[in-house]
Amino acid sequence: MEDQELPGGTDAGSSNGAAPAPRSGASGVVPTIAVRGITKHFGSVQALRGVDLEIYPGEVVGLVGDNGAGKSTLVNIISGGLQPNAGTISVEGKRVTFSSSLEARRLGIETVYQDLALAPDLSVWANIFLGRERSVKGPLRWFGWLDRKTMAKEAQADLDRTRIRIDSVNSLAGRLSGGQRQAIAVGRAVAWGSKVVLMDEPTAALGVEQQERVGQLVESVAGQGVPVLLISHNLPQVYRLCKRVIVLFQGQVVANLQRDDSTVDDIVSWITGAALGTKTP
Ligand SMILES: Nc1ncnc2c1ncn2[C@@H]1O[C@H](COP(=O)(O)OP(=O)(O)O)[C@@H](O)[C@H]1O
Ligand SMILES: [Mg+2]
Repeated sequence: MEDQELPGGTDAGSSNGAAPAPRSGASGVVPTIAVRGITKHFGSVQALRGVDLEIYPGEVVGLVGDNGAGKSTLVNIISGGLQPNAGTISVEGKRVTFSSSLEARRLGIETVYQDLALAPDLSVWANIFLGRERSVKGPLRWFGWLDRKTMAKEAQADLDRTRIRIDSVNSLAGRLSGGQRQAIAVGRAVAWGSKVVLMDEPTAALGVEQQERVGQLVESVAGQGVPVLLISHNLPQVYRLCKRVIVLFQGQVVANLQRDDSTVDDIVSWITGAALGTKTP
């Protein structure tokens, strides 16, 4: 990962014309994540058009929008899986560029991907430790021996802590149901996300009880100061968990709503575009 400290504390010289990364918000708090002027196209499809957003410590922020609005693309850019065509990302006020999701994870940015990206041919515990494998202590370490026992034990403890029930952490991820895989992805993210947890439709494959559990996990992660960006089509759930809701419409942020000043209907009218032109966000 390239971790560029900005010369003179400004990125006014950035070539893409994006606004400078904020040093702090109105309250003087530095955003955990600040995204500026992010643009992404896939061939002729303009998925993101100059997106700005900030996530502050301990916040649960909703990111909503219709199918194709660009939510997953944005999350995949913040989590290092995709590179933007223009724009910048800052983590705690420092500009970063990621060339892989592993680099973002090493910085404490954990993601639950919409497509449930677990490695199907690896066990549950190996998925939880993917990219962070522990070596055995002692000379065998030099031969690349991994401490499988410890990793399996810790993976089980991570899942127990989240009260996510999996029969055996030795099962192959590919053998599990969609709901179980989603639960593991959530468990992994909340266990390791030390800076921010990004969740792209984390409850889509879950039953009601597990959805509730994910809601509690989101609140407990945020309660420890780690912000969560939650993408969900379940607007009552978003409304319950998120004090602030950002709406993407055709690749642009069209609204940044305080939950306490908005209704679910307000959110819907921004999502559909009905509010465009008739309201100011
Ligand atoms: N890998 C890709 N190749 C081509 N087009 C893509 C790719 N990923 C996303 N898109 C397009 O970018 C737009 C935004 O998609 P996406 O970020 O998945 O939206 P959302 O998650 O809000 O439903 C859509 O038009 C989608 O078809
Ligand atoms: Mg999506």
